[in-house]
Amino acid sequence: MLQSIRNRVSTKVGLLLLVVFLFIIFSMGGILYSLFLTFYLSHITEELVQRGKSHANVLSEHFTPTTMNHVARMEKGSNYMVVVLDRNRNVIANSDTITSAHREYLSATGEHGAEEELAVEKDWDKKPFLVSRSLIMQNGEPVGAVVMFSPTAPIHQAVEVLQGMLVITGAITVLVVTGIVFLLSRMIVRPLLQIKQATGEIAEGNYSVRLPVQGGDEVAQLAASVNYMSDRIEFYQKQRNEFLADIGHELRTPLTYLKGYAEILRDSSMDSEEQRTYTEIIYEQSSRLQRLVQDLFDLARLEQGTFSFQVERFPLEEAVTDALTLIEPSMDEKGIDLYYEGPDQPLIIRGDRQRLGQVVLNLLENAKRYIPAGSTVRVRVKEHKDAAYIEVEDNGPGIPEEELPYLTERLYRVEKSRSKETGGTGLGLAISQEIIRKHNGSLSIESVKGRGSTFIVGLPLKKDEEL
Ligand SMILES: Nc1ncnc2c1ncn2[C@@H]1O[C@H](COP(=O)(O)OP(=O)(O)OP(=O)(O)O)[C@@H](O)[C@H]1O
Ligand SMILES: [Mg+2]
Repeated sequence: MLQSIRNRVSTKVGLLLLVVFLFIIFSMGGILYSLFLTFYLSHITEELVQRGKSHANVLSEHFTPTTMNHVARMEKGSNYMVVVLDRNRNVIANSDTITSAHREYLSATGEHGAEEELAVEKDWDKKPFLVSRSLIMQNGEPVGAVVMFSPTAPIHQAVEVLQGMLVITGAITVLVVTGIVFLLSRMIVRPLLQIKQATGEIAEGNYSVRLPVQGGDEVAQLAASVNYMSDRIEFYQKQRNEFLADIGHELRTPLTYLKGYAEILRDSSMDSEEQRTYTEIIYEQSSRLQRLVQDLFDLARLEQGTFSFQVERFPLEEAVTDALTLIEPSMDEKGIDLYYEGPDQPLIIRGDRQRLGQVVLNLLENAKRYIPAGSTVRVRVKEHKDAAYIEVEDNGPGIPEEELPYLTERLYRVEKSRSKETGGTGLGLAISQEIIRKHNGSLSIESVKGRGSTFIVGLPLKKDEEL
């Protein structure tokens, strides 16, 4: 518990604030205190000396018992005490009772020779009075002295009040800082602890945790980032699960066929015609399985970056015409018209001829597979602003707009029922996209439902670069 309090950000900030505040208060207090004391003391001393001096002046002119009594009476009601001494330091008038403490200064009077006036005692802290002495002069000769006493008790009282105020201010500071620490802990530490707990839960596999995001400060931004992170993890987790389920499904269908037909072949005696049909099915299904596994393997290597490319400089249109040559007979067979429009001049690009050909073939196979007989496929290769473009356009059924962003995802198919006729596994576009990405290119898909689709592959043209 103590450890956790000590480790809290709020405690650390609070302690820092406390030290800073107390430092400011006590240094400011110290400065004010000494300024006040200097000012106050000099004021009192000056007053004391002035009063003594003025009494001495009066007495210099009239050194008579009447004047002395007058002076003594004047100081009776004041804070001060006056004592008049004659030449031999005998007391000849006083405004208050003389105690032994006073006497010390009376006997010492005159030691300072002919100096006219003097603050004899300035030690306000240890002595009960401040003392001043003024000589009474007649014809240039001292005939006596006026000794003034001012008690130091009021100074002590003022200092005590000042010290008390400093202590109270210090105490208020401690209270205020404690309040700040409390508020800080509510504002910062609590959300941080929540974030810590949430990340712990995410690490344990609970991806559904979401944090409340209050305000827009850094702590709120951190909470929003944690929420975003768990969103993404949840998404990837879901995607992974779906992917595994899809793979399972994709593998199960051909394996069921393989096992079923192999069993029939093993158990029954049938004529060679029937045998040939079943063997054909087994061959088809195992080819499909092989292709699926190969595609998955390619995709994994592409995503991991371990897929090796044979990079060369070659005219892009050649890779396209190669693919067209390959697909033309089966397009013909299905009754699809195929048109090709090449560039005005060769478009030399740098890349893997084979893999880019595979991309074009994927697009053409899709067109062949998903558009009905009697439709048209137009292939164009052209140049635009330092990039080469391959367009594969068909006037088939098109793809719903909301499906477009998902087409390049692994195993994604618009036609969800995995029927034998439409037969794809949904990996073709995912692989094509990865290959294009590795060539620093782009794949965009435009489609209008019922009107057809256009797949556009963009590749950077590196005209001046040598291979
Ligand atoms: N030209 C097109 N017209 C209509 N739909 C298309 C077209 N091309 C692709 N699609 C849709 O996009 C989906 C994804 O295509 P993709 O090439 O990735 O997978 P596939 O063809 O189903 O399987 P594979 O290519 O791995 O054999 C297809 O299942 C299909 O629904
Ligand atoms: Mg395909």
